Amino acid sequence: MIELRNVSKVYSNGTKGLDDIDLQIKEGEFVVIVGLSGAGKSTLLRSINRLHEISEGEITVNGNSISEAKGNELYRIRRDIGMIFQNFNLVRRSSVMRNVLSGRVGYHSTLKMILGLFSKQDKELAMNALNRVNIAEKAYIRADQLSGGQQQRVSIARALAQEAKVILADEPVASLDPITTKQVMDDLLRINQELNITMVVNLHSVDLARKYASRIIGLNKGKIVFDGKANEATEEVFATIYGNHELVAEQIGVAK
Ligand SMILES: Nc1ncnc2c1ncn2[C@@H]1O[C@H](COP(=O)(O)OP(=O)(O)O)[C@@H](O)[C@H]1O
Ligand SMILES: [Mg+2]
Repeated sequence: MIELRNVSKVYSNGTKGLDDIDLQIKEGEFVVIVGLSGAGKSTLLRSINRLHEISEGEITVNGNSISEAKGNELYRIRRDIGMIFQNFNLVRRSSVMRNVLSGRVGYHSTLKMILGLFSKQDKELAMNALNRVNIAEKAYIRADQLSGGQQQRVSIARALAQEAKVILADEPVASLDPITTKQVMDDLLRINQELNITMVVNLHSVDLARKYASRIIGLNKGKIVFDGKANEATEEVFATIYGNHELVAEQIGVAK
């Protein structure tokens, strides 16, 4: 479903974000990417839906080359890819419903969208999405009136309304408390299992990675240093991913 072949990304200042990545992610997987800050997790995720241009290699999504697509083709490929950010990326002054409906823009003409003309079907889709993350009663409240966890669930609902086939989540729980973290991670897992939506989630918590992932990928300096099942990710493996750094080991909760 997602394939990266010999992908490298060099930023204009010469920093290597990704270094010769080969990776295949199958439909329905729940992949968690772990690694130190600066390891290249965000660069990887943003390259997959082409928020970043890669310097070398090719990325395909469902067999279509997103790294080479142009114009309408790029939009069509992107329509299948939902994106979730640490800071939610909602239009804060708009209602929850409006935010979720914005997941539908890829399906309609620009003019319709400027005029805010969403169909009854769109509204039903949006409401179903809100129901799936248990927040339908907030539909007509302004997004900035919600707690962080609720806002993140709105952004998940937006990806569902988009009818995304894959969701890329960049540190989706980094700014949430432990209870809300669990709710949001549970939502992502449920959606993965019930709707077979492929998940690629960047996390810096090893515990969360172990708990939710079907597959863990470890990044270090833009390279894949581990790729295996969650139960194969032992403490030695995490030491490799995190560079055997005691302070880091302590922070991420790996006993040394
Ligand atoms: N816009 C940018 N310009 C230059 N270097 C960048 C930019 N974004 C990220 N980097 C660098 O690329 C590397 C990977 O960063 P990033 O993908 O953000 O890592 P992570 O998400 O794992 O913390 C780091 O060395 C970072 O400093
Ligand atoms: Mg990052």
